[in-house]
Amino acid sequence: MTLAVRYTAARTLDTAPAPSVEPGPGEVELAPAYVGICGTDLHIFHGDMDARVATPAVLGHEMSGRIVGVGPDVEGWQVGDAVTVMPLRWDGTCPACRAGHQHVCQHLDFIGIDSPGAMQQRWTVPASTLIRLPESLPLDRAALVEPTAVAVHDVGRAQVAEGEKVVVVGGGPVGVLIALVAQAAGAEVRVVELSAHRRALAEGLGLTTWDPTADDIGALVGTWTADAGADVAFEVSGAAGGVDTAVEVLGVRGRLCLVAIHPRPREVNLHRFFWRELTLVGARLYDRSDFERAVALVADGTIPADRLISKVVPLTQAPAAFEALEGGGDVMKILVDCTDDTDTSDDTQGAAV
Ligand SMILES: NC(=O)c1ccc[n+]([C@@H]2O[C@H](COP(=O)([O-])OP(=O)(O)OC[C@H]3O[C@@H](n4cnc5c(N)ncnc54)[C@H](O)[C@@H]3O)[C@@H](O)[C@H]2O)c1
Ligand SMILES: [Zn+2]
Repeated sequence: MTLAVRYTAARTLDTAPAPSVEPGPGEVELAPAYVGICGTDLHIFHGDMDARVATPAVLGHEMSGRIVGVGPDVEGWQVGDAVTVMPLRWDGTCPACRAGHQHVCQHLDFIGIDSPGAMQQRWTVPASTLIRLPESLPLDRAALVEPTAVAVHDVGRAQVAEGEKVVVVGGGPVGVLIALVAQAAGAEVRVVELSAHRRALAEGLGLTTWDPTADDIGALVGTWTADAGADVAFEVSGAAGGVDTAVEVLGVRGRLCLVAIHPRPREVNLHRFFWRELTLVGARLYDRSDFERAVALVADGTIPADRLISKVVPLTQAPAAFEALEGGGDVMKILVDCTDDTDTSDDTQGAAV
């Protein structure tokens, strides 16, 4: 029997045996290697997504691994292939799908939220979700491909152009990846982030950061842009204060790209939208071309994925790792090593993470 990490109720995770599922026609069975813990997994952990998530739910949608079984009618894939998964299943028939926007299908199954995810030792998924990884790319770094695909999609949605000034509000993993992808597109970037640890990490990657609790962001943007304001702001904090910052920094005709999941409605300074003719652009998930570009960016080192990985914990320590992220510990991305099921439950809680 193999193990899975499951969300059972608000702030409660366990590890439990999970039956492996024989791959049916068009499916493959994977052995997940590394699975990242994402801000969205934390929203689930908080209980904010209980209306959507059926418990017990196996979490995890940022992964890398290898194929261990190939079902009937699957072509082009072999046991042993290194892969990541674009965790989307769409119906292909709804108005959004028919308009070509399958990634925001009106009946989307986001695998890892709406159906069982990757934080387990065996995972059966449709072969259509597979994205090939180069053999030269270490699997721990490859677990960062999915959030990088988010960043690629977001920078595309905001139509960031060379020479533009971009403010990223929220320097968590997704925000830092957006900053790096925007920079690679030729933009000048500033990251606004509360956590000193995360700011230092971003600075170490060559990004300039601002602290919203100590810096006068409005004044800094004014100096930086000769009073024009920024061209693009990304809201990646999920906090009410982050929304205010993202609106405040934008210049005339600026674009606000909303990436974060806001668990409740927010107040927005709409007068500013009127006054400066701002545009709000929603950005959700990615499509296959975003994923393929993300593989290339991680593989060629444009995204220094290894430097974003703070810790790798065994599967059995995943619940404690959620607590560590929750506590705002000095971490960026935590990966769960699904191949390691060492029982460390006798260790001092938290010491291993
Ligand atoms: N649009 C999508 O498809 C998509 C995909 C992945 C994640 N998300 C969402 O994007 C968000 C970011 O993901 P993440 O994994 O980086 O999450 P995270 O929670 O690790 O990062 C959020 C960061 O925002 C910072 N922050 C909070 N309030 C702030 C404020 N007022 N000003 C500046 N910074 C502030 C926090 O310190 C934290 O570092 C989450 O809401 C997540 O659910 C959306
Ligand atoms: Zn659809």
